[in-house]
Amino acid sequence: MKYIKDQENLEGKVVLLRLDLNVPIKNRLITDETRINKILPVLNFLIKKKSKILIISHVGRPKGKIDNDLSLKPICENLEIKTAQKIRLVKENIYKIKKEDIFKNSKNQIVFLENIRFYEEEEKNDTNFSRNLARLGDIFVNDAFSCSHRAHASVSKITKFLPSFAGLQLETELRALKKVTTEIKKPVTCIVGGAKISTKIGLIKNLIPKFDNIIIVGAMANNILNHKGNPIGKSLKEENCKSVIDEIFETAKKNSCLINYPEDVVVGKSMSDKATIKELNEVSNDDLILDIGPKTIKKIKDIIEKSKTILWNGPAGYFENPNFANGCNEITKKIIEKNEKNLIYSVAGGGDTMAVLNQMNAVDNFNFVSTAGGAFLEYLEGKDLPGIKALN
Ligand code: 3PG
Repeated sequence: MKYIKDQENLEGKVVLLRLDLNVPIKNRLITDETRINKILPVLNFLIKKKSKILIISHVGRPKGKIDNDLSLKPICENLEIKTAQKIRLVKENIYKIKKEDIFKNSKNQIVFLENIRFYEEEEKNDTNFSRNLARLGDIFVNDAFSCSHRAHASVSKITKFLPSFAGLQLETELRALKKVTTEIKKPVTCIVGGAKISTKIGLIKNLIPKFDNIIIVGAMANNILNHKGNPIGKSLKEENCKSVIDEIFETAKKNSCLINYPEDVVVGKSMSDKATIKELNEVSNDDLILDIGPKTIKKIKDIIEKSKTILWNGPAGYFENPNFANGCNEITKKIIEKNEKNLIYSVAGGGDTMAVLNQMNAVDNFNFVSTAGGAFLEYLEGKDLPGIKALN
């Protein structure tokens, strides 16, 4: 893989820069700017190198049709403020754009192409479309790790037509993920939470052979509690996951990986209720399990204390209600405590985990926090990501 940071002679070159500016937009207002802030280093780098920057991104899933609600305009305007530069948004059809017209106005150093998913060829990884896109630039940079699990034209096929490089953020992300997959400092622990165990089975199975501890929390742990014969009231539960759970425990046993799950819980009668701590056998029919209890928190903290590497994906409880955010808060505080002494390498990722850390203002206290959802999970499942494969 070639990295853009190592490249000389970028002056005057048109860099086709694939970013993931897929940020949440409500009423044309951006509600979370994290992804925009994360790409500022690559923009500033290319500005300093005096390159011409042609940004490609998608937002939402317009399915190959023009949808004005999914225009990149609000993002373009946001970046104008952040970079203190005038940025032009090109709405013209890609097949008709002339390369020499894009930066005709010498004041423009950054130009945006409109939402690339307005073209159905994008998601089809179409060769002709990729070639047409590629003719607009001199080199291609992928700084969109969070899209790299998609075999799409502006992520994958385009690399066939241009010298292609990894961007700064993508490089940082890959280095961080290597530290929790191939270059691990042991003991290593993964905390995995969230709603559905079926969506995380690939991740858990891939990590078991390398990890010392896997801690299963969140609603997905209800399935294990239920499987072990504990009452779970009206808590969230998945059907037909018995074989999945048996497989997790069998593989863990063979690989000497300890699977941990809640020893006590916090329940409410509804999601907006107050919190009541309960032993596992005390959960009643009308209870919803919404957080981990104090005994579980203590056990998790002890495991974190002994770990040198920690990976966290998925919340421990229904953190959106502060009454059920204690598990997430305590896990976060313990990781930060060890991080501050440089005693642990910490990586967190996934939309909900990111939201937990944002809520606690703790994003900067981890070694790395990924804004990627699907790509983060697929990488940790051991899958080859098309965007990364293409750069290699
Ligand atoms: C994401 O938000 O994870 C990326 O932008 C990919 O979006 P997608 O799931 O719509 O492909």
